[in-house]
Amino acid sequence: MAPRRKKIYEGKAKILYEGPEPGTLVQYFKDDATAFNAQKKATIEGKGVLNNRLSEFFMQGLTNVGIPNHFIRRLNMREQLIRQVEIVPLEVIVRNFAAGSIAKRLGLEEGTALPRPIVEYSYKNDALGDPLVPEEYIIAFGWANQQDLDDIISLALRVNDFLAGVFYGVGIKLVDFKIEIGRVWDGDFMRLIVADEISPDSCRLWDAKTGAHLDKDVFRRDLGSLTDAYTEVARRLGVLPTNSTNMKPTLIN
Ligand code: TMP
Repeated sequence: MAPRRKKIYEGKAKILYEGPEPGTLVQYFKDDATAFNAQKKATIEGKGVLNNRLSEFFMQGLTNVGIPNHFIRRLNMREQLIRQVEIVPLEVIVRNFAAGSIAKRLGLEEGTALPRPIVEYSYKNDALGDPLVPEEYIIAFGWANQQDLDDIISLALRVNDFLAGVFYGVGIKLVDFKIEIGRVWDGDFMRLIVADEISPDSCRLWDAKTGAHLDKDVFRRDLGSLTDAYTEVARRLGVLPTNSTNMKPTLIN
């Protein structure tokens, strides 16, 4: 066994380890799923393997169209090398159709097309249940300044255009998603890049024809097998894990 690396941070679905070079981290995808601020928990075999692959696919796609992000390369079935960033403590949510909390808050029927993509922010704080916050709070408390927010909105909308197109090409409607943003420094110059992960854990994905849920709502709402839903997304995108000893053969076919 290789000596255990230094753990930098452990979240609900991922672990960050010290990377091989300064300024890098290893991001490990666990099989753990949580919902409703971890009131609901389960281990879903194979989820980490699928999300590692899917996040690689989306981040690499962002790189290909010039959208800066933390992904460097995938290391193995569950790990990828990423740039170390300072995470902006916000969940940046983009919505194309009403679902989840906005549907509830505004009394909209799920699936209602929104007049334009809506970008909103939650303050990343588990103890408070990630509350929705206005820009006014973000600036007043110094989590980001106005220039940062302009850049964050621009990044979020570019990611939305990219993802919505990729998904629609495989018969999936991108209802909404969440990204996180990190700061990196080149000398004194600070840049904002897409960080964390992009996977069916952090998106709402509906089959364009049937409306079937192909995302974490399957787990949140007890709609069936989460692994089957994520495998279907991976299969349509042509992103299925190759054979390996640490995964079940059911994921390969
Ligand atoms: P919401 O409708 O519950 O506010 O969620 C909006 C989107 O953000 C949905 O795609 C799920 C994603 N999301 C996360 O990735 N993490 C979270 O903690 C929450 C609340 C939502």
